Parts: sequence; structure tokens; C-alpha cells
Amino acid sequence: MADFEKQKMNAAVKAAEYVRSGMLVGLGTGSTSYYLIKEIGRRVREEGLKIRAVCTSRKTEDLARENGIEILQNTDDQIDLTIDGADQVGMYGTLIKGGGGALLREKIVAYNSKEMYVIVDSRKIESTHFGSFPLPVEIVPFMHLRTVQNLRKICEQTDIRRTENGEIFVTDNGNYIADMRMGKINDPLDLEESLKNIPGVVEVGLFNGIAKRIFEGTDDGCNIYRITDHGIEREEVYFDH
Ligand code: A5P
Repeated sequence: MADFEKQKMNAAVKAAEYVRSGMLVGLGTGSTSYYLIKEIGRRVREEGLKIRAVCTSRKTEDLARENGIEILQNTDDQIDLTIDGADQVGMYGTLIKGGGGALLREKIVAYNSKEMYVIVDSRKIESTHFGSFPLPVEIVPFMHLRTVQNLRKICEQTDIRRTENGEIFVTDNGNYIADMRMGKINDPLDLEESLKNIPGVVEVGLFNGIAKRIFEGTDDGCNIYRITDHGIEREEVYFDH
């Protein structure tokens, strides 16, 4: 049986090899990024790696701090490399992100990076049913009931995200998340534009043309894909021995 935790770790550890001293690094959020931050922290302690980091969520910030990574809250500088997880990766490298609710900061950080690498386990690359993961959209609380009605004109199966206790989930930015169960997304560029035209929508969890490489962890290594104009092309395959 596939070991998804091992796959996440393999993807994260391989991607972390691309982090070099002197870099300003964007750190992602989620259970795969957890392994990334642990590995970068290990390299800071054991190998004397010297980096500064921008974090995509408060949770990541806490974890990075615990792991001895220097954190910047704001910067004029462009980020050298951002490494982050994803909820789904489409055939042209489009991502669905925001399953953990961090999509706004994740997009700001990724947009301001020279390169963005994605770390995923083998369940995340989706060739035929891109959009089967509900698309998260961050919206402001003011008049959110109307904003949801407007989103439902695009996808009827849209609801405000709630916590396990039934309370409305609030993002690090004090906003709400609407999850759109699209089933399938045929034109992500057009969809992103339509959603961003709705007042009250802050950001959409679709990352079009942002990722440069995908690290897909396997049980015994990692596949690396480069995103090109023709789609995802396999670049390298690594095995642990
Ligand atoms: C956080 O809001 C998300 O975009 C995460 O990056 C995404 O959900 C991937 O998380 P996992 O690595 O936990 O699957």
C-alpha cells in the first residue's frame, strides 16, 4: 500500500535541496510543507544553511521559528524560491490551493517569487478530473451571503467553510472561505477572471502559470516535472537506495 506520508517527505526533502545559502525563501503551508520546514531547519542547524524566509501562514511562521529559521514579515526584495504544497495539480501545471485556508498569503508569496516549486504526494496530479477538489475562494465577511449567491451563479455547489464545531472558518487575514464544488474545471484562466470580477472576492485558489516545477513524492523517491508551454514534462526521477 502506498505510504503517503513517506511520499510527502520524499518530495519535500528533494525540493529542499534547491534551497541555498543567501536565498530569500517562501515557505508553504500544509502537511507536505511541514516536512519542508523540518528539513530546512535541519540544514540550518547541521549544515550552517543561511537563509531568510517569508511564511504563507501563521502556522508556518510558528513552525519555522521553532526550527530556527529567520523570518521576514515584509520585504522589498523579490523572493528567490517558494516551495509549497497543493491540493490538486492539473496537466498544464495549474494548481488548486487553499485546502488549509492559506491561499491568499500563498498566492502573494508565490507571485513575488522568481520560482515556485510544488511538493505533492502521488494523489495530487489530476489529468482528467482537475477541479474534483473543491475550489477555495477567499471572500470578505461584509455581505458574504450575497457574495456566496453571486458565486453560486457560477457553481451552485458553493458553501462557506466551517470548522468542526460548525463555526465559520476565519483565515489569517480575517476573511472567510467559500468552497466551490465544481467537479471539473475546463478553463481555469477564464474561471479565475470571472470569480475575481465579483466584488467581495479577495483571491481565488487557482494558481495559473505560477508553478515552475512539481516534485511528486513516491514511496521510494521523487519524480520531478518541469512545467512547459506544452504541459508537464518529466525531468528527473530519484530513488532512495
Ligand atoms: C493551504 O491553504 C493549501 O494551499 C496547502 O498548500 C494545500 O492544501 C496542500 O496541503 P497538504 O500538503 O496538507 O496536502
